[in-house]
Amino acid sequence: MEKALHSRDVLLGVCYYPEHWPETMWEDDFRRMKELGLEYVRMAEFGWALMEPEEGVFDFSLFDRAFALAHRHGLNIIIGTPTATPPAWLTHRYPETLNAQANGISYEHGSRRHYTYNSPKFRELSARIVQRMAEHFAEHPGIVGWQLDNEFNCEVFEFYSAADHTAFREWLKAKYGSLAALNEAWGTVFWSQTYTDWEQVHLTRNVPSDSPNPHLKLDEKRFFSDSVISYAQMQADIVRAAAPRHWVTTNGLFGHLDTHKLTNDMLDFISYDSYPMFGRMFPDGGENPLLDRRFSMSLSNVRSISPNFCIMEQQSGPGGWVNRIEQPSPKPGQLRLWTYQSIAHGADLVVYFRWRTATFGTEMYWHGLHNWDNRPNRRTREVERIAEELRRAGQAIAGSRYEAEVAILRDYDNEWDGEFDKWHGGYEWTSTLSWFKRLQRRHIPNDMLFVNEQTTLDQLNRYQTLIYPHPTIIREETAKLLEAYVQGGGTLIIGCRSGYKDETGRCRMTPMPGPLAPLCGVTVEDFTREEPDGSSPSFTLSSQAFDTFATFTSNGFAETLAVTSPDAIVLGRYDNSSYMFGEPALVENSSGEGRTIYFGGVFSDPLVDQLIDRLGITSPASDLLELPECIELTVRSHDKPIFEGQDSGLRIHFLLNYSGQSASIKVRCGATDLLTGKRYVKGAAELDPYAALALVFDE
Ligand code: GAL
Repeated sequence: MEKALHSRDVLLGVCYYPEHWPETMWEDDFRRMKELGLEYVRMAEFGWALMEPEEGVFDFSLFDRAFALAHRHGLNIIIGTPTATPPAWLTHRYPETLNAQANGISYEHGSRRHYTYNSPKFRELSARIVQRMAEHFAEHPGIVGWQLDNEFNCEVFEFYSAADHTAFREWLKAKYGSLAALNEAWGTVFWSQTYTDWEQVHLTRNVPSDSPNPHLKLDEKRFFSDSVISYAQMQADIVRAAAPRHWVTTNGLFGHLDTHKLTNDMLDFISYDSYPMFGRMFPDGGENPLLDRRFSMSLSNVRSISPNFCIMEQQSGPGGWVNRIEQPSPKPGQLRLWTYQSIAHGADLVVYFRWRTATFGTEMYWHGLHNWDNRPNRRTREVERIAEELRRAGQAIAGSRYEAEVAILRDYDNEWDGEFDKWHGGYEWTSTLSWFKRLQRRHIPNDMLFVNEQTTLDQLNRYQTLIYPHPTIIREETAKLLEAYVQGGGTLIIGCRSGYKDETGRCRMTPMPGPLAPLCGVTVEDFTREEPDGSSPSFTLSSQAFDTFATFTSNGFAETLAVTSPDAIVLGRYDNSSYMFGEPALVENSSGEGRTIYFGGVFSDPLVDQLIDRLGITSPASDLLELPECIELTVRSHDKPIFEGQDSGLRIHFLLNYSGQSASIKVRCGATDLLTGKRYVKGAAELDPYAALALVFDE
């Protein structure tokens, strides 16, 4: 079954913490939520100490009263299991439930997410609170769904308690069967690391130079991910058995967690927490960073799990903890823009974080829709407007799917291996960002596609072009799948450092790019990292194939290529900036109906632009619209008519202006904005700063 949110309307909600406010305020809060146009409220995900004030003593009365009131006001309730915040009595009595750092120092009570998934005691106590909650709330008429825990692997995503070391051994026994197989996979003959007893095997500990065995590092992350998944499965099983009417989700995408597997194994759909101001705080580098627009990339990752999903936390004010994450206020219009950014990428339910800013605690500067003074303000007015627009447009948008003909491929093995391995890790981000950025700015919608053992040819064949920037670890089967995709007519683009590692992270003794070499029609003959001063060999493009005499940088890593296929042509050669002078840097090979482009470097914005031109990839809306770069285009469409009288499925063109300036566009055919009802006639139009439109073009 497809793991997607199935909604007939696009709806809004808000996170609410009744435990933070005098009970006398609740009724007024729920009433005003409804008045504002909100339909969902998420509660309880941090309430363990209230629900189980003493070990084995349960008291759901506060949430009973809050849920009853919310339900009376017609709100749908999303209930969170509270396991992200174990009570003080728990970790005090059972310190073995606490997570620890690699150096053995334990985390302590006082913040959140200080527990470890592998503590048997923590599992037992988690199972009990979830069981009690699920039984207690299963028949509640207001509850529609469950959020498991809160943001698995946020705050901390490495686990080194005693329980984790023990569980790791069991995990390895199941994976390798014998110590001999483990020693072989991890290459422990190197530096006499050979294990002769399972008790000698540990997760990373305090080792000299901070340089543990790299193959262990990779397995460690797979183990962390499996630990979350088995812990979440335990919760999901309990909730589903007790409350089969309710949907089950969890929120966020965090490190060392295969969220695709998590979702496929146990959830109805994934939810995401979108805080685009982080994109402004940590700009993505280069001259023209994407800033808050970079969250469109995160939303594309979310969409690769669930084509329609929920935003469980949508930023609704300035962000900040007392001592960190100081974020400015969203500008007027930006909340609306970010809400439609989520919707444009497939969200059909958007829940704001949070109703009102806390007056105490770590997050008393993480602003909600209301400030402490609880008065209506420009942010609440903006949400009121969005709710009104969605009343008009929501049903036409809900359930429609994001359209893309280009996908950027990713996988967890390379992401996790690349965190530790400096010889390929950073390139992934640089190249992915360049592709995403240039496709974004040229109005070419694109998907992220995560490759794993279950990936099928049908999934690849949905796209005309695939970019797999640096698949260092690649299975033979994946290489065969890519070959079938190209043979069938697809275009595949690959960058340097590809194909040379197997699944254990050991290097192959065949010419690079390993199993991808025949398909790409090249072998790597020589290579170098960038020089200590940051310079890399540069190259020029073939004047027969490109309309430029510019030089391009290999951008951090350079490989010289030997052409091995009679059908290959050299598209670029190194210039006299280095000893690689004259050698091929960029090669195109045709096989079957399709082609590959292999680049012996790390992609950069100018090179990506050239490749987009060479491949003739254009915006699907180029016949309908002329847009400046500051505007994002996404297309969501229905494959069938949704309203009576329609001949075909509706296609909705979302236009999002990330700029604080108004932007000029040209419309080539009459259209109506579903959100405002405004008509656009053929010709020029001016979009407001931070504008968001959902255009339907005249037939
Ligand atoms: C999220 C988290 C929320 C809140 C918010 C703002 O990551 O799920 O509980 O902490 O960030 O900091």
